[in-house]
Amino acid sequence: MPEPIYLDHNATTPVDRRVLEKMLPYFCEIYGNAASIDHLHGTRAKDAVNSARESIAKGLGCRKESEVVFTSGATESNNLALIGAYRRFRDKGNHIISTAIEHPAVLDTLNYLQSEGAEITLLPVDCNGVVDLEALEKPIKKETILMSVMFANNEIGTIQPIKEIGALAKSKGIIFHTDAAQAIGHEKIDVYDMNIDLLSFSAHKFYGPKGVGGLFVRSYSPLIKLSPISFGGGHEKGMRSGTLNVPGIVGMVEALTLATRKMKDENSRLRESASLIFQRLQQTFPDIKLNGHPHNRLAHNLSLTIPGVEAKALIYCLKNKLSFSTGSACSTIKVEPSHVLKAIGLSDDETFQTIRLGLGRSTGDAHTIVDILNCGIDNIKS
Ligand SMILES: Cc1ncc(COP(=O)(O)O)c(C=O)c1O
Repeated sequence: MPEPIYLDHNATTPVDRRVLEKMLPYFCEIYGNAASIDHLHGTRAKDAVNSARESIAKGLGCRKESEVVFTSGATESNNLALIGAYRRFRDKGNHIISTAIEHPAVLDTLNYLQSEGAEITLLPVDCNGVVDLEALEKPIKKETILMSVMFANNEIGTIQPIKEIGALAKSKGIIFHTDAAQAIGHEKIDVYDMNIDLLSFSAHKFYGPKGVGGLFVRSYSPLIKLSPISFGGGHEKGMRSGTLNVPGIVGMVEALTLATRKMKDENSRLRESASLIFQRLQQTFPDIKLNGHPHNRLAHNLSLTIPGVEAKALIYCLKNKLSFSTGSACSTIKVEPSHVLKAIGLSDDETFQTIRLGLGRSTGDAHTIVDILNCGIDNIKS
């Protein structure tokens, strides 16, 4: 039996073979600790990390390489950004503004920060999942120290007006953090042009390895220093202790370089496929609804509500042919309705009738995908 078609690229992507090739020497040949700079094995590793940092910094529009802090992924980066900024600046104020549709790596961290005395305001979004700039400005007060708004949503694909949000935060002297786990490698990002102070990312969302990522920490206008949230050897300018994952870092850079090079063409191809899938499904089942912003959305994401069809039942029915998920892959173990879909106004029933298709490099003929989905939906409906 052929492998099912993989349609869960918002959850994770396969490692590109070219990325793997770049990583391989760093396991058994160039295996030194990048912090052991007194000998050749260490300096070779350190050189690879330096060049990776330089390349990522350039790709994100940083002013200095040292603005890139390597971590184990976006979850850790979000924790470091939010907890680190709160602890560092809490003498100025304790108020943080964010949105109701953030990933749990942000929401759960904010929830935790309440136990350290933080006051959290979570803003609603409109029916397309967009946060309103005026609504964002209203709760700002003198105690507001931090604003965290995700770049692109992992469930519905909506992209936020990041540059404008950053400009608002800047004009009020508030630090602006964005969780760009879904956007980096898929959307053009320039941290200075977009007024971003802190930006989180994970390599495995753009065909790099799992367990590696980073955090951009602005060092110019203003200079931001974060309190560490874990303690050890004082690596990464004291912000993130721990031996660096050199093969992972080398792989992440190669993955980002490849993704950036092909971004425009790949996005047009995926946008075309996504639109074909939605339109053809709608021809057969006119009540199918697309969630998220109709245009300002990730090209590779389709969040679809199919009335009368339980998402779990459809996934099960098609599991030998397609691999896709309900709502967010990160919360599929929970049986509660998705907080993102609820925030854009779906009923509990509708949230359980919603599937997420995450297209990617290996996604071939869109018509084949539609034929399989049509067949499954038909089966469940009849
Ligand atoms: C928007 C967003 N933030 C954070 C994360 C967490 O990333 P990781 O699991 O790589 O730490 C994810 C992963 O799904 C995500 O989509």
